[in-house]
Amino acid sequence: MCGIVAYIGNRKAYPLILKGLKRLEYRGYDSSGIALLENNKLNIYKKKGKVADLEGELAGKDLQATIGIGHTRWATHGEPNDVNAHPHYSNNRKLSIIHNGIIENYSSIKQNLIKKGHIFLSDTDTEVLIHFIEDIQWETGGSLESAVKLALKEVVGAYAIVVMSVDNPRQLIAARKGSPLVIGIGVDEYFFASDATPIIEYTKNVVYLDDYEVAVVNDGKLSIQNLDNTETIPYIQKLEMELDTIEKGGYEHFMIKEIFEQPRSITDSMRGRLHAGEGQLLLGGLNNHLDNLAAANRIVIVGCGTSWHAGLVAEYLFEELARVNVEVEYASEFRYRNPVINENDIVIAISQSGETADTLAAIELAKSKGATIFGVCNVVGSSIARATHAGAYTHAGPEIGVASTKAFTAQVTVLALMAIAVAKRKGTISIETYQELLLELEAIPAKVQKVFENASKIKEIAFIFTYARNFIYLGRGLNFPVALEGALKLKEISYIHAEGYPAAEMKHGPIALIDEDMPVVFLATKDSSYEKIVSNIQEVKARKGRVIAIITEGDTFIPGIVDFVIEVPKTHELLTPLVSVIPLQLLSYYIAVMRGRNVDQPRNLAKSVTVE
Ligand code: M6R
Repeated sequence: MCGIVAYIGNRKAYPLILKGLKRLEYRGYDSSGIALLENNKLNIYKKKGKVADLEGELAGKDLQATIGIGHTRWATHGEPNDVNAHPHYSNNRKLSIIHNGIIENYSSIKQNLIKKGHIFLSDTDTEVLIHFIEDIQWETGGSLESAVKLALKEVVGAYAIVVMSVDNPRQLIAARKGSPLVIGIGVDEYFFASDATPIIEYTKNVVYLDDYEVAVVNDGKLSIQNLDNTETIPYIQKLEMELDTIEKGGYEHFMIKEIFEQPRSITDSMRGRLHAGEGQLLLGGLNNHLDNLAAANRIVIVGCGTSWHAGLVAEYLFEELARVNVEVEYASEFRYRNPVINENDIVIAISQSGETADTLAAIELAKSKGATIFGVCNVVGSSIARATHAGAYTHAGPEIGVASTKAFTAQVTVLALMAIAVAKRKGTISIETYQELLLELEAIPAKVQKVFENASKIKEIAFIFTYARNFIYLGRGLNFPVALEGALKLKEISYIHAEGYPAAEMKHGPIALIDEDMPVVFLATKDSSYEKIVSNIQEVKARKGRVIAIITEGDTFIPGIVDFVIEVPKTHELLTPLVSVIPLQLLSYYIAVMRGRNVDQPRNLAKSVTVE
């Protein structure tokens, strides 16, 4: 979704902000813009399209400003065009703003301002906010800071904003509610951004702004207050992220880099937690809560997209190992029901970004009903990580490609560790199974690496199906969520229509779609439903469907009845998704590349979905 970068200090702001905006491209956007304050002039430059288009427009300009704000916009109010792009001016053009989020009551505020003579140029809620701030400052005669606070008390919705004024070239004002904002602290310079990626190159010292906080940098000093002027001491954290984790490192796309990183990222998810040789499993963030988890009546898992799929895998793991009733909910649906939740329930919220608005809202709802909330997040310090009572980070490292890959396997790894730890505490698994699972988990990174040996074969299969119009993905048991995940990966980056189903469900409807033009991907690894899935394959072949089967190494039967096979190493059945998902990620990637798609930033999609 939208991205914010702002700078105040002694360097030239333009190149720094431009680079920062490029770092934020992965979030998804459709226009970009920069405002620079120089020689008592506030100039705004903005352009529909990519940051490179804006850069082209500004090429050759002598931009010396040392203060500026920049934005990548993902359209909500008003179509993507130059005018609706941020930054926006106030009515007298002395103020300018960048904004992530949505001001829900913008329309009534706008009508009042129009009556007072304000003229609006764009269709955005953001322009209304900066006019509103200007109007309050004019009415009250107070400082810009207090006008920002008064305005924010009136608005309904979510925001992360940065405001700059021509009257004070030594000042930037920022605020947040429901949309992330990080402040980087350098030597005599400050950086503001939606996440740490534009900042990491310059400083590792950061402050994550909390909801309802307003940060003001004035004359080289940072102060933070809430909307009622109560001062808070900034809590400065050290970023653990390294620069090379947010660069492509020689790969053509972030997505393929992240797919190939998985042996490392899965290892990182287990690092310091799992010592199979000693039979040791320790999840620091959960240790004090294991009794709680073990005593739970029920576990409710919430998430969206790929994180929801990881939740479905966890359902099998927790039910099988810890013998506890589990329900997995789309966060977006859960929040709009009146779910029956109480203090005996445990809610596990899964999110890569830790900023997904629906998941955050589901957490708040469950909290209000007394449930204990655990988070499984990738981004350290994210809103969800902070909103939960306890949790375990996935430590997959920054995921830049919009299509989630290494975050999924890291989530499944951490959820597997959690399920095993709870089962051990409850005594619902034997010591042999416990030990076997720990050893198998430790072996997973090498098995994932082994799948990569099939990359060129998968590429050949991708070539054959590049122009397919539809795909069906089928799996049973733990491979059912993998089928859903495979279909999601394909549709989001290649724009091919794809559906995932439980294989047995096919005969209740989707079988009508099968003919010689329908590629069907079967997750057909050797597990407890192997015979059943073989029957499902036969049903598809009898109707001339073209079958690609993901099979266990050494299976000699399925290759004889399908069109293509991709082998994955054998693992414990409960850990199968960690290896069976890998060929599906690669298949989607290669098909999307062959179709010429923008793999890392597919159309209409955002990396973190911070609006409903
Ligand atoms: O950051 P989150 O895990 O909360 O994001 C949830 C979904 O938006 C995300 O998984 C989305 O479906 C991805 N594009 C899938 O690849």
